[in-house]
Amino acid sequence: MSDFTQHLLTTPASLAATMSALPNEGAVAFPLVDEAGCEKMLRATEQLNFRKSTPVVGSPGNEVQQDFTICMNFEEDTFLNDYQAAFEQQLNVAFELMSPQPYKTPFAFNDTAALRYYEGSAGISPHRDLVCFEGVIAILTLAGEAGFYICDDRDRTNAKRMEAKAGVMILMRGKNFAGIEERPFHFVEGVSKERVGYGLRYNVREPLDKAQ
Ligand SMILES: [Fe+2]
Repeated sequence: MSDFTQHLLTTPASLAATMSALPNEGAVAFPLVDEAGCEKMLRATEQLNFRKSTPVVGSPGNEVQQDFTICMNFEEDTFLNDYQAAFEQQLNVAFELMSPQPYKTPFAFNDTAALRYYEGSAGISPHRDLVCFEGVIAILTLAGEAGFYICDDRDRTNAKRMEAKAGVMILMRGKNFAGIEERPFHFVEGVSKERVGYGLRYNVREPLDKAQ
């Protein structure tokens, strides 16, 4: 494993300051990984086997339309793991710098997903991530451009746009961040250039070492 910290644009203190907005905002966006780091990670995703997403998921009345390809919880040891280790290390220090601490440490992700939205993709309609994902949900864009929106409900009320572009982290509140159970609605649309994203989550129902 190589040290990915050199590619991070944050410090634990800057992360802590940014995350202090999460209880109110639901999600925050900020530059996290430099160009060389994104390039390394992007090359690692090119080795993965992507499959087409199920077009419609969710219960009747709460359907979610999704249009991307995905590869989840893969075994290969790549730069993606190095990134995870470096980011987790900063995140843990950042949690401990915050008062009150928003989530218990040591915190580690155990669910990984690489997503590719082709140019012109319909994206994903408003939804909330599953209740089993706690702490923070970390969505990093490695290439391309799309709109990532936080909103109040499935009808896109109060939609707030964040630009998902290379190197930018969109950090979203998972369940129980700062003791808040409610999770933000969000959606992706306006994929103007093929977007590759890499998501890290902590699933409380899975053992911590699953995705290591
Ligand atoms: Fe989501």
